[in-house]
Amino acid sequence: MSRNNQDVQTLLELRPGQSLELLKELHILTRDGKINQDSRRKLKQVYHLYQFIEPLLEQVAADHADITLVDHGAGKSYLGFILYDLYFRQRQHENHAHIYGIETRDELVQRSTELAHKLGFSGMSFLNLSVADSIVSDRLPAKIDVVTALHACNTATDDAIRFALEKQAQFIVLVPCCQAEVASVLRKNKGKALADPLTEIWRHPLHTREFGSQVTNVLRCLQLEAHGYQVNVTELVGWEHSMKNELIIASYKDLPRRRPTERLHEVLQTLGLEEMSSRFFTPAHGQDA
Ligand SMILES: C[S@@+](CC[C@H](N)C(=O)[O-])C[C@H]1O[C@@H](n2cnc3c(N)ncnc32)[C@H](O)[C@@H]1O
Repeated sequence: MSRNNQDVQTLLELRPGQSLELLKELHILTRDGKINQDSRRKLKQVYHLYQFIEPLLEQVAADHADITLVDHGAGKSYLGFILYDLYFRQRQHENHAHIYGIETRDELVQRSTELAHKLGFSGMSFLNLSVADSIVSDRLPAKIDVVTALHACNTATDDAIRFALEKQAQFIVLVPCCQAEVASVLRKNKGKALADPLTEIWRHPLHTREFGSQVTNVLRCLQLEAHGYQVNVTELVGWEHSMKNELIIASYKDLPRRRPTERLHEVLQTLGLEEMSSRFFTPAHGQDA
């Protein structure tokens, strides 16, 4: 390995065998092998997320080798490419593991498709679909093991949850973006609720937005629990450039559904958000499996 490559390896904390070509294509390395500082930060963040996802992939792999992962709102697919390079690539000749990137911007889909082809990452596909449309698309398998959505805009995260539930995903990894829908319903119904002193929590417009965002993630967690998932919420540290650094990891454990279902409906009712019940749908009658 050349001296320059060694320096790069150390500075980026690369793993043995990791593709420098990929890092150049993602503009994390410049063409002459120097490090782009802004992109380096992005890489560190994705590595950080990888630390959470790798053990989940290992758990799936213990059961079957042909892991399927769908990344929603993939953008330039940094996450998908790094996951593929670090985990899937060594296994691509032994099995049919596959990463699908779902993205509505066609130029990004084209670019990622070309890059995967150029790098020989044969187990990657990119589909120009909305998250909602991907649920019914016949270009995706009926069952998916792992679903990720990293800063998927607004309600795309909710659609990703619906996708994961339909596809019986074993693991769901979400770093939600801002979601405006709940805040807009809180805003609309504020006048009716003002008699309750707790409305002070969201009376000011800035608080309506922030509280709406917080409540959205609380409802997402309850919804996942109501479908039998164990949910862990943590902070994605190292995500300095973004205020949106809440990491939600859901693991399917077939847990009792009744209590979280009741709780979700109580929260909707208490906050005057009943009209959101189809967004945060729960299993029929909240029955335990
Ligand atoms: C903030 S970017 C995040 C990109 C990438 N996940 C990352 O973290 O670097 C959100 C991406 O989601 C895409 N997007 C937004 N709404 C979508 C939807 N409903 N279905 C599919 N993609 C969507 C946007 O085009 C954009 O590329």
